[in-house]
Order: sequence, then structure tokens, then C-alpha cells
Amino acid sequence: MKNYLSINDLGHLSQAVDEAIQLKKAPYHFKSLGAQKTLCLLFFNNSLRTRLSTQKAAMHLGMEVMVMNFGSEGWQLEFEDGTIMDQGKSEHIKEAAQVVSQFADVVAIRAFAGLQDKEKDEAEVVLNGFATYASIPVVNMESSVGHPLQALADAITIAEEKKSAKPKVVLSWAPHPKALPHAVANSFVQMMQLQDADFVITHPKGYELDPKITKDCKIVHDQEKALENANFVYVKNWSSYSHYGQVLTSDENWMMTQEKLGNAKFMHCLPVRRNVVVEDAVLDGNQSLVIEQANNRTFAAQLVLKRILTS
Ligand code: CP
Repeated sequence: MKNYLSINDLGHLSQAVDEAIQLKKAPYHFKSLGAQKTLCLLFFNNSLRTRLSTQKAAMHLGMEVMVMNFGSEGWQLEFEDGTIMDQGKSEHIKEAAQVVSQFADVVAIRAFAGLQDKEKDEAEVVLNGFATYASIPVVNMESSVGHPLQALADAITIAEEKKSAKPKVVLSWAPHPKALPHAVANSFVQMMQLQDADFVITHPKGYELDPKITKDCKIVHDQEKALENANFVYVKNWSSYSHYGQVLTSDENWMMTQEKLGNAKFMHCLPVRRNVVVEDAVLDGNQSLVIEQANNRTFAAQLVLKRILTS
């Protein structure tokens, strides 16, 4: 694998999941693979899980890790070609990406959607800028439109917890006070399309995700109906895609409750706002998989780094 930009870069999903589960059983088995190799993590946005789990994964493989909070500490980057750089931006992506490539063997990037300009967000200027100009492999640690490390961790969690070959999995929109990107939901949808499941998306009207991503996925606007007989309920807020980046409703009736969850397992990528997105009883109950999902972030990242190091 050269780069990990999307869940589709994995190839066969179930083989990747099986390989990650083997790594989880023996995390240090490949501890020589990354000897004298350096992973550089560049954050243009905040993180808890992604930062620590990706570092932990690299440590399991014997890699050195450098971390930079680029958004607050780096020079402001210019991404346009041919621009006269006489305004606030100090450095062009062409130099920045090549310079990082001198110091590291793999670079991982986190750069969220701005949610102001759909076209600009979908161009993925930060991630694609590094992918274009770096001479080393690039890993997506959540970009404008995707969070494939989270989606792989979610696939591992479902594989570990499912009791039937074809579980019912529901992706349910939830209210949130802030406008959030579509990246987690997009990658979860793409991941679910790669496996055998009865997959249903439920959200209020106006919150349709990008139809180029959802394709022919089943969408049910009645949340109660969508949740019937669910085995896994993945809850996530996202802002409107059609009215790009807007919060159209924050209807609290969409919050996940223990009553609505029934016997299903609860999933969320975290961080989560308690009693807005999901009630305490769910997060504190034994049907919640959120800590397992966070733990599996390490083995998702480790699988990706292992494949890059061995390719
Ligand atoms: N789920 C996730 O990516 O968490 P962080 O934003 O804390 O990295």
C-alpha cells in the first residue's frame, strides 16, 4: 500500500480486519519492521484518540514518531498553484511536503473540512497536497471528507462483536449544537458497503449525505422504524450536505436513548456530547462499544503502517 487516503485503499476489507485482529493478539510481533523509520504526524486540528493510537501503533512497530500541531505552530500554507504569495501565507505546500519528506518515512495528516465551501473541502487541498508533493507515503488521519482509520477500527469492532454473519447495522444521525463535518459518517458508509450487512441510514430530511457516497444505501427517515431489530447502532452528528455546513435542526428527539437502543450495541467514534447526542444510560451501560472502538484505533493504524512498511 503506497498511501492510505480512503478505506478503499485497503483492498479486501475482511482480510484487513482479520490481519488487524492478529496484530491485536500480538502487538509487538513486528517490532523490528519499523526500526530506523520515522512517522511524522501533522495535525491541523485537535485530537485525542487519533494522536495517541497512531503513536502507539507506530511504537508497536518500532518506529520513531514526530508530532507537530501544524494548525497552531506551522507556517500558514499556500495550496494554490501560481499564486503571488504577498498576503498572509508564508510557505507553499510544494516545499512543505518535500521538506517533511526529508525528515520522515511516512507522514500522517489531519485536516478537517472548513464547511464553508463544499468545492474547496471536496478538493481535499491539504491531504491531496501532501499526497501530490511528498515523496513518502501519506496516511489520512481525518480529512475533509473521510476518516478511514476510524472506519477500519469500527469494522474491527463489528467483526469482534457480531453474533451473525449478516448483522443489522444502523447509522443514526444525532443532534449537536455545532456544525460538524461528514467525514466519519462518509467513511463508515463506505466501510459498510464493503461488507455483508443489513445496513440502514436514518436522519431527518435535509441531512442526506453525499449521494456519490451513499449510492444505493437504504435511507429511512423514521428513526424508530430504522432501529427495529438493529444489532449495532452507530450514532453520529453531521451538518447538512445539500445546505452545505448548515445546522437545519437540532431536534432532541433524535438523541439516542436506552429505550430506542433496545438490545443493540451502541457505537460512536468519540468525542461525544453526553445527553445531547446520547443519554448517559447508554454510554454507561454494558451495550456501549465506544471504548472498544477507541482501543481498536491502535490496531487499525498498526495494520495500515505495517502494510505501508512492507510494500
Ligand atoms: N474519533 C477520533 O478521531 O477521535 P479524535 O478526534 O480524538 O482523534
